[in-house]
Amino acid sequence: MSQRQLSLNAFLMATGHHIAAWRHPDVPAGAELDFKQYLKVARLAEAAKFDALFVADGVAVSLESAGSFDVAARTARASYLEPFTLLSALAAVTERIGLIGTVSTSFNEPFHLARKFASLDWISGGRAGWNQVTSNTLAEAQNFNRDQHLEHALRYERADEFLDVVKGLWDSWEDDAFLRDKASGQFFDPARLHELNHRGKHFQVKGPLNVARSPQGYPVLVQAGSSEAGKEIAARTAEAIFTAHQSLESAQAFYADVKGRLAKYGRRPEELKVLPGILAVVGRTEEEAQAKYRQLQELIHPQVGLSLLSGMIGADLSAYDLDGPVPQDLPETNGGKSRQALLLDLAAREQLSIRELYLRIAGARGHWTVVGTAEQVADQIQLWFENGAADGFNVMPPWLPGGLEDFIELVVPELRRRGLFRTEYAGTTLREHFGLARPENQHVLRRQQRAAS
Ligand SMILES: Cc1cc2nc3c(=O)[nH]c(=O)nc-3n(C[C@H](O)[C@H](O)[C@H](O)COP(=O)(O)O)c2cc1C
Repeated sequence: MSQRQLSLNAFLMATGHHIAAWRHPDVPAGAELDFKQYLKVARLAEAAKFDALFVADGVAVSLESAGSFDVAARTARASYLEPFTLLSALAAVTERIGLIGTVSTSFNEPFHLARKFASLDWISGGRAGWNQVTSNTLAEAQNFNRDQHLEHALRYERADEFLDVVKGLWDSWEDDAFLRDKASGQFFDPARLHELNHRGKHFQVKGPLNVARSPQGYPVLVQAGSSEAGKEIAARTAEAIFTAHQSLESAQAFYADVKGRLAKYGRRPEELKVLPGILAVVGRTEEEAQAKYRQLQELIHPQVGLSLLSGMIGADLSAYDLDGPVPQDLPETNGGKSRQALLLDLAAREQLSIRELYLRIAGARGHWTVVGTAEQVADQIQLWFENGAADGFNVMPPWLPGGLEDFIELVVPELRRRGLFRTEYAGTTLREHFGLARPENQHVLRRQQRAAS
């Protein structure tokens, strides 16, 4: 029996993670806006004792991966619910499962964000988590008073300061600041209140926050950027990092890299969970799993597949025959050179047509895909978990709710048989599910340090 336990998040994307999920016959039309659908999925994940629900977010109808509205019109990524609203509603109808929402540091003010997450943490009884992203599309910038996006380094500089301000605001009140003494008439103790008085390059925030310190102290801090700056901010501040890897080797290298950065911030490796994504298509037999995958793959509209492939390969392939060979004499791309070389090499080695090549990459949009029986999926999960590649996973149901039901009915029992996943929640907060300590208020900590020295 393994002592170490997997963390599993249900990564919810409106109709499912496969690019054609919305066309699946079992996905109800309108599911992406139907709260009853989210409720069903949340209850499934909670009954299976998942650590958390995780919702991604953007602040635009982004065309970056689709290329045009004509192509975007064939995907279901244009309309979905806003995370705070959705997670607050889910908090009211669930009891134990964590609630992680994605919110951008580029298009928010720290005060608003600190207040909303503190509120979500109170509403949920300590189950909130913040996936802080810097956002990377022009379409988003154009909704927030800009013609161009902030440059990458500046986005991360802003994120760094943003985080410090948010944490400072969450520490506005010591945990025991609110006396609510009806007899004496004293509501709070002013000695346990701390103004922030932050004046930095990007923000000027006086504080204090108008919400008491929340049940978890700080909601769990999650990060999902993989650039140098992203990994550094994760090492300094994050308690979980979401990431995408296709192979064990690449996941191992990432794991060692981010864990190796923690010591210089006085942190231990177990203080940051590395959670790659897995898109698992599971069947009772290998043939059944393959049939389920084929059904989804056949629903990928050629325009969508072609556009995703063109984006990744850095050249417009629309003039070529879909069922002809992938042209090897493409102009060298300015974008991802290694990605172009990798795709051309794969096409040449396996003699793939353009259609066959886009089918390889389009379904999971570049995420790790495993198609097989419960044992085969569990084998892969265990391999990554026990070989320095992951502390757990973002489970990405290919379609909803069926893809999550398959994972829960088939893979979760197999993981439990192997002693890798809990059968009951041990605690009530997301921090407890992840095995993370509750952070002490910075002011209290300093007072304790002064007293000890
Ligand atoms: C699993 C995963 C989920 C992500 N979810 C979001 C998201 O919901 N919204 C978003 O804007 N970016 C999301 N990202 C992207 C990033 O967090 C980040 O903003 C982007 O990759 C740019 O940072 P980088 O240059 O450091 O990679 C996600 C990334 C990963 C790996």
